[in-house]
Amino acid sequence: MRKKIVAGNWKMNTTKPDGVELAKAVAAGASKVPAGVGLIVAPPFTHLCAVGKALAGSGVELSAQNCADHEKGAYTGEVSVDMLKAVGCQWTILGHSERRQYYGETDEKLVEKVRLALAGGLGVILCVGENLEEREAGKHFDVCSAQVKNVLYNFTAEDMKKVVIAYEPVWAIGTGKTATAEQAEEIHAHIRKVLADKFGAEVADDTTILYGGSCKPSNAKELFAQPDIDGGLIGGAALKADDFIQIALSF
Ligand code: 13P
Repeated sequence: MRKKIVAGNWKMNTTKPDGVELAKAVAAGASKVPAGVGLIVAPPFTHLCAVGKALAGSGVELSAQNCADHEKGAYTGEVSVDMLKAVGCQWTILGHSERRQYYGETDEKLVEKVRLALAGGLGVILCVGENLEEREAGKHFDVCSAQVKNVLYNFTAEDMKKVVIAYEPVWAIGTGKTATAEQAEEIHAHIRKVLADKFGAEVADDTTILYGGSCKPSNAKELFAQPDIDGGLIGGAALKADDFIQIALSF
């Protein structure tokens, strides 16, 4: 049985004091969330350590939002997998559309990042999703399959045990415009089929696929009721502990 997960991507929001306060509120709310639902928060690098401490004992797991595509060395401004592990991270988000769009993150780079993250013992939340132009041109299925194949087809069924996929249609991120439950479900089912083609039905069935893009308490229930939607990667609504916990109670 694949795991249900609600993950909060804080993006470039919160200072360390704000982040610690938010983490404490999430940790307090986590006791209301059923054990079968995994909670993850992904604060900025600068307060991973402090947030990790604030989450201690709550069961809420800690994620980075990115990692370097090299193990160590002369890569000014980058943060390695080892560094993330050492401050208590269990996960890293990779391939977020904001990184693809603004920081030139390519599928080739992502292969390297996923390889390093898995080798270093981090779970990976790999983001895929089409932009508005691609959706309007009817290319959304192809874009998502290509992103999944270009990155994950380089890995093994064993590796897939540590990989979660997040489908985030770019046109729905931070826009207040959510994909309908049907639009999201058909892509999730498609991604699962793309996984089954390479890794077999069992791996595809066991892989958690999250929806992201203006997911909030008012729409989470309908989205999470879909058979192939296993939770959410939450942006804006993850900055309010009550909303984040409410979303996690929407299964
Ligand atoms: P919003 O929930 O703010 O639309 O952001 C979604 C997202 O990008 C999560 O990674």
